[in-house]
Amino acid sequence: MKKETMQAVICKKYGTPEVLKIMEIEKPKPKDNEVLVKVMATTVNSGDVRVRGLAVDGFLRIVMRFVLGFTKPRKPILGTIISGVIEKVGKNVKTLKLGDEVFASTGFKFGAYAEYVTLPENGTITHKPQTASFEEAAAILFGGMTAIYFLQKASINSKPNLKVLIYGATGSVGTAAIEIAKHYKANVTSVCSEQGVELAKKLGSDAIVLYTQQDFTKLNDKFDIVFDAVGKTKRQDCKTLLKKDGKYLTVGGLDVAEETKVQVEFLKTLFDNGELSANIDKTYLLGDIIEAHRYVDTGRKKGNVVVRMK
Ligand SMILES: NC(=O)c1ccc[n+]([C@@H]2O[C@H](COP(=O)([O-])OP(=O)(O)OC[C@H]3O[C@@H](n4cnc5c(N)ncnc54)[C@H](OP(=O)(O)O)[C@@H]3O)[C@@H](O)[C@H]2O)c1
Repeated sequence: MKKETMQAVICKKYGTPEVLKIMEIEKPKPKDNEVLVKVMATTVNSGDVRVRGLAVDGFLRIVMRFVLGFTKPRKPILGTIISGVIEKVGKNVKTLKLGDEVFASTGFKFGAYAEYVTLPENGTITHKPQTASFEEAAAILFGGMTAIYFLQKASINSKPNLKVLIYGATGSVGTAAIEIAKHYKANVTSVCSEQGVELAKKLGSDAIVLYTQQDFTKLNDKFDIVFDAVGKTKRQDCKTLLKKDGKYLTVGGLDVAEETKVQVEFLKTLFDNGELSANIDKTYLLGDIIEAHRYVDTGRKKGNVVVRMK
């Protein structure tokens, strides 16, 4: 019998966006505990371009080669975020059914830059927000899961009115962090550039500091949480900003955000309640994946970059 095929973006070696090639490969089949999802949208994240370009320094580069593959990614289809429609269901799957609209993270399995992916029922997959388009559903996951992980680690949910400073407030993680912090009734100071002011205000920031005009580490305010959402600060430099029991967290250290189904369900609820926005900066078609990677490589995107399959 002729094998069914699909289009996917293959990364054959580490390098510039041009290493990405669209190819026809065999369509995956779900195992008994898995579903097959027809992907409608994916995203290009800072994490994806980092893997593609092996863009880390020194010792971490060696670690990354061990984890991801020495000369090329062991999992050649990059991308970790999808939204789409369930097309096949493994015989042991109970909570998801044919035709369900879902959104998910494939995590270290990667494989999201493809027309189809398989995911275990108990993975980070759930029904997409009812009020979200496929593009919006895909957009809220990467930054959202990361922001939840770090802010919850800093006990954002311990009490209302915490004073929170978010450095790098206009990326995928930063934009989600503003809205998640506001959900917990925090008072949010966002640090961004002139290009991000409008967005940071729209998302509910109580105060804005321009890192282009002012050294934010010299602010007179004291914060319960300082969250560096772009990994560009040093804990030492932020010490004077913290209250006595204040917490400093950064996406730039060795701490890798855990992704859970509970987070995905929480993001769905926040979106449906109108407390979380998709913040889509640009949308590309799968055929323009190289362009999308070039844009994310600039490190200047505002919010999220989405890729539509068709
Ligand atoms: N540890 C983890 O588990 C984990 C998880 C997810 C992401 N990350 C890391 O977190 C970082 C951020 O991820 P992301 O997806 O949010 O990135 P992103 O969307 O690509 O971030 C881009 C944003 O950062 C702002 N920015 C750039 N340089 C800045 C600076 N010096 N100071 C303040 N803001 C600056 C840019 O705005 P302007 O240019 O206008 O300033 C832009 O809006 C990445 O390095 C990623 O690898 C880590």
